[in-house]
Amino acid sequence: MIGRLNHVAIATGNLQQAADLYKTVLATNDQVSEPQALPEHGVTTVFVNTGNTKLELLEPLGDSSPIAAFLERNPAGGVHHLCFEVEDLDSACAQLTSAGMRVLGEPKIGAHGLPVVFLHPKDCGGVLIELEQTK
Ligand code: CO
Repeated sequence: MIGRLNHVAIATGNLQQAADLYKTVLATNDQVSEPQALPEHGVTTVFVNTGNTKLELLEPLGDSSPIAAFLERNPAGGVHHLCFEVEDLDSACAQLTSAGMRVLGEPKIGAHGLPVVFLHPKDCGGVLIELEQTK
């Protein structure tokens, strides 16, 4: 069902510091995007292009950010979710549901303008998985 690893999302309480780590130490300036505020998702993002995939650095935005609870439990930040590409999100959701897996809510338009859903981490070995439709 799953295709390419689209991104690894990393939650951070300090987006500038996280971006600087990649701009100056682990990667180069031209691999790192400018911050983008996504109020409808409750996060500000910076993308790091590593060639075969991306990192999505996430900082909470607003009062009800979906990553606020994660950062309370992990104040130093950490890996928040993995995102895999699927060709047909509706049929993937139907297959997963019939396999007894919990799809969290209905597909929504994600940070890249494409439909996404999340799968319950307790059904995925403790990992929050995002599925993104490829087009
Ligand atoms: Co994501």
